[in-house]
Amino acid sequence: MNIAILGGTFDPIHTGHLAIAQEVIDKMNIDKVLFIPSGNPPHKNDVTSKEDRFNMTKIAIMDNPKFEISDIEVNKQNFSYTIDTIKDLRCKYIDDNIFFIIGADNLKFISSWKDSKNLLKKCSFIVLSRPDVSEENTRKYIRDFKKHGADMKYLKSILLEISSSDIRARVVMGQSIKYIVPENVINYINQYNLYKQYPVLDKDLINSMYYFVKSKIPKKRFIHTQGVVQMAIELAKIHGEDLDKVYIAALFHDVAKKMHFDEYKGKIDWDSFEMDQDHLKHGKLGAYILQKHFCISNEDILNSIRFHTVGRSNMSKLEKIIYLADMVEYGRGDDIEQLREFCRKDLDKAMYIALIISKEYVIGKGQKIHPIVDKLIAEYR
Ligand SMILES: [Fe+2]
Ligand SMILES: [Fe+2]
Repeated sequence: MNIAILGGTFDPIHTGHLAIAQEVIDKMNIDKVLFIPSGNPPHKNDVTSKEDRFNMTKIAIMDNPKFEISDIEVNKQNFSYTIDTIKDLRCKYIDDNIFFIIGADNLKFISSWKDSKNLLKKCSFIVLSRPDVSEENTRKYIRDFKKHGADMKYLKSILLEISSSDIRARVVMGQSIKYIVPENVINYINQYNLYKQYPVLDKDLINSMYYFVKSKIPKKRFIHTQGVVQMAIELAKIHGEDLDKVYIAALFHDVAKKMHFDEYKGKIDWDSFEMDQDHLKHGKLGAYILQKHFCISNEDILNSIRFHTVGRSNMSKLEKIIYLADMVEYGRGDDIEQLREFCRKDLDKAMYIALIISKEYVIGKGQKIHPIVDKLIAEYR
């Protein structure tokens, strides 16, 4: 069998990759294209997680029986070199011919790759034409490599000038990527908020919200608030929640912590329990402040601020994220790392554990427990 390897970061995979893979099958007598998403390159924090890149590639190719995906590189702890991947594949595909697909623009770098002489012996190469490299130059390179025993074939490819970086930029700017990226990959990008930097909201609005909150609470409380924002964003990305909503809710959750509650009597719908527990009043007052000063009327945002103190029945995903992020932000220390891990894996399970911990905490402090807490523990059990 002839197997062609198409490696890359696939951040994200796009129709250009897919069209090239199909073209290799049609024109180069290839039976199967193996897509190999790379592991995360060292010292680069701006690359999407390897899990997300792998998942997007997997769903992009799933309707083509001649396309396959390999986790050989994403499963490695360290970034892997081409020669190591080819060696591993050689062990797996003993009787098959392996072709490595490479763009003409990369030919000149091969000599600098790790163990390149060995690499040129271990597999064949399919060189794809590139609009920015002349055919004459490419053919000259190929002749030179062949002189040294390499097996290289040239493929004048259809010219699809799509780049992953352009796609990422389009997502950031809110432009469409329809027809450039497969539909199911677009859905994945939207669901997990990939490439969307936060805050996407108007910069002036974000600035005024930020300084407003900063001016209302003591420095230590503001550091905690920043921790909650960071944690809530982390959880939102994992569980697929809107980053703008999460940002605002987390930023404002404790905004009313030091306000004079008496001034707001009659305006806020505190329940009888909250009425005599001052430390619980800042939830509903915080939501009121956000609504009043910034005209935010999104009920999900407001509820997640209102109920971050004790929770309530049937909490939305956003409400759970804010409740939990408040409890497990990194400033709370390492003792709760286990709960933090539950938050990443399963919000409901994390809610159950968080409620039990906070019940014990309240008892330990000699405070009264809000009647909803036991009800919620039963709900999440
Ligand atoms: Fe709070
Ligand atoms: Fe808080």
